[in-house]
Amino acid sequence: MTIRAGALSSSDLFRADVLAGLSLPQKRIPSKYFYDAAGSRLFDQITELDEYYLTRTELAIVRKDVGAMAARCGSACLLIELGAGSLVKTRLLLDRLDHPAGYVPVDVSGEHLRDAAAGLAADYPGLDVYPVVADFVRPFELPPVTAARRVVYFPGSTIGNFEPTEANALLCRMARLVGPGGGLLLGADLRKDPAVLEPAYNDALGVTAAFNRNLLTRINRELDADFDVDSFRHRAFHNREHSRIEMHLVSDTIQQVRVGDRTFAFRAGESIHTENSHKYDLAELTRRAAGCHWRSDQVWTDENGYFAVLYLTAMS
Ligand code: AVJ
Repeated sequence: MTIRAGALSSSDLFRADVLAGLSLPQKRIPSKYFYDAAGSRLFDQITELDEYYLTRTELAIVRKDVGAMAARCGSACLLIELGAGSLVKTRLLLDRLDHPAGYVPVDVSGEHLRDAAAGLAADYPGLDVYPVVADFVRPFELPPVTAARRVVYFPGSTIGNFEPTEANALLCRMARLVGPGGGLLLGADLRKDPAVLEPAYNDALGVTAAFNRNLLTRINRELDADFDVDSFRHRAFHNREHSRIEMHLVSDTIQQVRVGDRTFAFRAGESIHTENSHKYDLAELTRRAAGCHWRSDQVWTDENGYFAVLYLTAMS
């Protein structure tokens, strides 16, 4: 018998990932599962927080340099966005692209994609939108659209949520996707003082804590589990050795949690590792990209050097 990945529903994959992750010595749950409807709303609130400099800094860079970014993409490009978020930055780019061949938002949530595509279609009547429901870490098909160049847009420093070796693999897959001469417009949060980083993930209003805990609420609802959500504390800290922010959910007490027909024991103080947010410097980022034959053509950053947007070209 052959089990094909395509035969597993997204909830089967969620269950399998959660059960496998909770069975590890250091329990973990992949951060991509933060984004159910409630999680996406909480993330939108995070982007408005004083402490969370990332989104507003990236947006300011795009506002300032979108003309040059669009020029790099060139005329008649097919813009492929990995993970369709609020589309605020995408709209700025679409406003400036010269006769784009189309826009391909790729997202796991079909519902989110439908809403996003409908909103864009209303405001950009001439634009061909080709939504693709897929987890972009897995291979997916592009619509057969003729374009002068394919350009992947990967904003928001989502690249930082991957393990460095996975980030390399993803960069290589994106190079194959666009082909020689294709582009990558990449947004990445940079290394900086932990005194700036740590508050961004420990906001005073507790929105990030609610975002983190919502993962357990989602598991309770979707996987028939009985997490006592309030007995898990949000913890986020800078891991210097790995140059990343780690987020965990720490059990206050010794307890057992049931997920479907499995139970998992927690010691007091034991954590579930829920997210890594790697911070690279520009040299390291371009070196990793160069490993997949990406040539770095232009880098835009803010006055503090907190965040960078890079335009890279895939070489044959
Ligand atoms: C949107 C995934 C890049 O890592 O900073 C925000 C997610 N986690 N606060 C990030 C997040 C905690 C965010 N990314």
